[in-house]
Amino acid sequence: MHIMVTGHLGYLGTVLVPVLQRAGHTVLGLDSGLFADCVLGPQPEAVPAIATDLREVCPADLAGVDAIVHLAALSNDPLGSLAPDLTYAINHVASVRLARLAREAGVRRFCYASTCSVYGAAGEELVDERAPMRPVTPYAESKVRVEDELAELADAEFTPVLLRNATAFGFSPRLRADIVLNNLVGHAVLSGVVKVLSDGTPWRPLVHAADIAEAFRAALEAPREAVHARAFNVGTEENNLTVAQIAEHVAEITGARLEITGESGGDPRSYRVDFSTIRAALPDFRARWSIPDGARELYTAYTGNGLTEWDFRNRFTRLARLSELRETGAIAPDLRPQWTVAP
Ligand SMILES: NC(=O)c1ccc[n+]([C@@H]2O[C@H](COP(=O)([O-])OP(=O)(O)OC[C@H]3O[C@@H](n4cnc5c(N)ncnc54)[C@H](O)[C@@H]3O)[C@@H](O)[C@H]2O)c1
Repeated sequence: MHIMVTGHLGYLGTVLVPVLQRAGHTVLGLDSGLFADCVLGPQPEAVPAIATDLREVCPADLAGVDAIVHLAALSNDPLGSLAPDLTYAINHVASVRLARLAREAGVRRFCYASTCSVYGAAGEELVDERAPMRPVTPYAESKVRVEDELAELADAEFTPVLLRNATAFGFSPRLRADIVLNNLVGHAVLSGVVKVLSDGTPWRPLVHAADIAEAFRAALEAPREAVHARAFNVGTEENNLTVAQIAEHVAEITGARLEITGESGGDPRSYRVDFSTIRAALPDFRARWSIPDGARELYTAYTGNGLTEWDFRNRFTRLARLSELRETGAIAPDLRPQWTVAP
């Protein structure tokens, strides 16, 4: 298949592209490049790509594309709360527009990167795909809106697939430090302390970036009837852990001191997730990475590539990176890039 991956220069996209290529597909990227040079370790290989903002996509960009994996977004809850209007404009309006253009252009499958954040404050019970969606941030709300509108676009020729990914972890050459495991391991390496700025009780299901990539590959290759207009939680029940449990693993693996401040955190998200639907529908998919294995991988990558405090807090933290690009005028206030040659 000829597959367009939007957001291919992001944290997940950089892991996904080689997975699709190894499976025999050709990849066309599409990305505005907000984090293109935020790399830890060797530079990833470039792929043919369209350097543009999602809001500017035109029908010609989609010529010859069989399927789309749509990752490009303002990704994660704090970032979405910084500028809710931009979050809706990019994550919701531009995503639905892309799907409509894709349907008109004859693209047959549209695999969408949604999130388990759509469940919001769900409590102790395991939530499956039929559970009510209770988004508590503009980011999660934008994902719910897209899911709803994509389902309406499904027809005999166009198959949307909604992948509700758990919070990602693990090494990607385009690293992110603002997701819980990556963040805790970074603090452990840089300061010798694993610090949880809450009482650690919220549930945070996690899934490795490589497992998310496998889920997308499987969803692209599955028979239409197995995935047509369906939502799937992506992850594994073994990785339904509280923030405190995640931090304990990190402390054990890195040898850092564990500190749980016990403050009440400002983030109401808490959900434990059932992942049986994806296992039944996509039998060749399993989320294989455990939290301890992921913590070990990150520890090795951080120490082996000389992670610095500055990079950790700035280049690899989305909010800080975008603020810097805006302040220097590299991107406009609406986040449209101002560079003439894409990075
Ligand atoms: N990382 C996670 O924990 C996680 C969990 C669940 C779902 N997701 C979803 O997966 C997708 C990818 O996440 P990620 O962690 O790789 O995010 P990321 O921030 O690392 O990458 C997003 C990419 O999209 C691009 N992008 C953003 N706005 C754009 C625009 N207007 N036009 C063109 N390109 C634009 C950025 O340049 C970047 O390369 C997102 O949709 C996210 O919501 C991520």
